[in-house]
Amino acid sequence: MRRAVVVNFGGQYAHLIARRLREAGLYSELVWPEEALEAARAQDVAAVVLSGGPASVLEPNSPGVDPDLFKLNKPILGICYGFQLMARELGGKLARGPGEYGNTEIRVLVKDELLSGFEEREVVWMSHGDSVAEVPPGFQVTAVSERGYIAAMKAVDKPLYGVQFHPEVAHTPKGKQLFKNFVENIVGIRSEERWDPVRTVPQIIEEIRRTVGPGERVIIGVSGGIDSTVVALLVAKAIGDRAVPIFVNHGLFREGEPEEVLQLFQRLGIRVIYVDASEEFLRRLDGVEDCEERRRIIGETFIDVFAKTASQVSNARWLAQGTLYPDVIESGAVKGADKIKSHHNVGGLPARLDFKLLEPLRNFYKDEVRAIGKALGLPDDVVYRHPFPGPGLAVRIMGQFTREKLDIVRRASKIVEEELKASGLYYRVWQAFAVVGDDMWVGVKGDARSVGHVVTIRIVESEDAMTADWAKLDWRVLSRIAQRIVSEVPKVTMVAYAITPKPPATIEPC
Ligand code: XMP
Repeated sequence: MRRAVVVNFGGQYAHLIARRLREAGLYSELVWPEEALEAARAQDVAAVVLSGGPASVLEPNSPGVDPDLFKLNKPILGICYGFQLMARELGGKLARGPGEYGNTEIRVLVKDELLSGFEEREVVWMSHGDSVAEVPPGFQVTAVSERGYIAAMKAVDKPLYGVQFHPEVAHTPKGKQLFKNFVENIVGIRSEERWDPVRTVPQIIEEIRRTVGPGERVIIGVSGGIDSTVVALLVAKAIGDRAVPIFVNHGLFREGEPEEVLQLFQRLGIRVIYVDASEEFLRRLDGVEDCEERRRIIGETFIDVFAKTASQVSNARWLAQGTLYPDVIESGAVKGADKIKSHHNVGGLPARLDFKLLEPLRNFYKDEVRAIGKALGLPDDVVYRHPFPGPGLAVRIMGQFTREKLDIVRRASKIVEEELKASGLYYRVWQAFAVVGDDMWVGVKGDARSVGHVVTIRIVESEDAMTADWAKLDWRVLSRIAQRIVSEVPKVTMVAYAITPKPPATIEPC
C-alpha cells in the first residue's frame, strides 16, 4: 500500500493534515523532522507533506529537515511553515511580518494540478507572520494573497509544491479539493488503491488471532464508548469467547448508560463481566475538592477493581485497549508540553496489571474507528454518541464532590441530551452536558424564597476536541432546556450557558 508521511512541525496541524490525506484516499502517518528523510526513502512512501507549526524558519535552531529530502523526486507539499522551509532550503528568500491572520482572499494565477477546481478568487485561512518574499529558482508563483504575499508556488519540472495558507482547516472551503488534487493528480492514487479503514478489518482480526497464543484470554476494559466497544468486537471476532470484556460501573455514568452498555453487548452476543463498584468509587470521592485528585482516585480505584476482577479470569495474558493514533503520537511527544489535564494511560500499564498490551486501533483516527464500528454493525446511537470522559461526571462538578451535585449534573445532562435529540441537533454538536459548582442563586418556588445551584450548560462544536467553539443554538432550544432543568431538577434555580471557546477555556470545566 502506498502511503504518505507528514512531517510534524506542530501536532495539531500535522494530525489534521494526515486526516485530510486519509479522507482523500492516501494513508498517512506523522514523522518527526529529524526522521523525515529516512522515513521518506521507504519504498512505499509515495509523498511527503511538511506541516505548519508555531516556530519561525528565520529563528536559529528552528526545526528543519535534511535538504536531501527535496532530491528524492517524490511529491512534496509544504504548508505554511513547511512551505517557507521548502522555499528557503531551495534558495528562495523569506521576510518577516506583519503577515496575515484569518480569512484571506487569494488570487489564483496558475490553475495547476494542485489548484485545479479553484476559482480565480478563493477565500483561505491564513496564519503567518513570516512570508516567502522570493520563490526559489525553478519555481513559479501560482497564487497571491490580497495583501500581496505569495500564497502558493510550484516547481516547474519537479513535483514540489507549497502553500502559505492552511488547506487542512474547515475555514478554507476548497481545502479538501486541494488534498484530493494532491492525492489524485500529483501522487496518482488510483481508485482501487484508495485508503479505506473498513477494508483493513480482516487484517486486524487476523493479526489479533496471530498475536494471541492458543488458549490465552484477552481482557478488554469496556465503557460503552465507541473505541472500547470496537476493540471488544474485533477481539471477539478474532478469538471468540476468549475475549473477555470487563465493564466496571464507577457510578459516574450518564443516566441509563450502564444498562444500555449491558444491553448492547447482549445484542452483540458478547458476554461481559459486569462489576458494580459505584459505592466504592463514590465513597472514596466524597468531599474531594480538587479535580485532578478526583481523577487520581478514580484511576487508582479503577485499577484496583479491574485488577481484582481480571485476576479471576483464567489464562488472561493480554489487555486490549482502545488507544488511538493521536494518543500514540502524543505519548511520544511530551517534549516539555504542559500537562493541562491528566487524560490517558497510554504507553504502559501500572505494574500491578501484568498483561501484554494489545492496541488494535493504534493506527486509526476517531472518525475511522466510527466507520469501522458502523461496518461491524454497531447502531448509530453508539457510533455517533458524544465522547464522554473516563472519569465521567466527576469532571463536571466544581468544588466539593457530593452526591447531590452528582445527581444534579446527571439529571440536567439528561435533559440537555433529550432536548437536543428532540430538535435534531444532538448529532450536529461535539459534546453537550451540564456542569454544577458552588455558585448559588436565589429563586422563588411557589411563593417561597429558595436558594439553589447555578447549572451551566456547555454545548460545543469541534472536530477533534483540540479546539472547540460554543454552539450558537436557537435560543428557543436553550430556553426549553433551562426551563426544564429548573422545574425538574431539585435544588437548581438558575441555568447559564458557557460561551468561551477552547482555547482559552477547555471543554470540560475541570
Ligand atoms: P478538555 O476539557 O481538555 O477535553 O478540553 C478534551 C476532550 O477530552 C475529554 N476529557 C477526558 N477524557 N479522561 C478522558 O478520557 C479525562 O480525564 C478527560 N478530561 C476531558 C473531554 O470530554 C473532551 O472530549
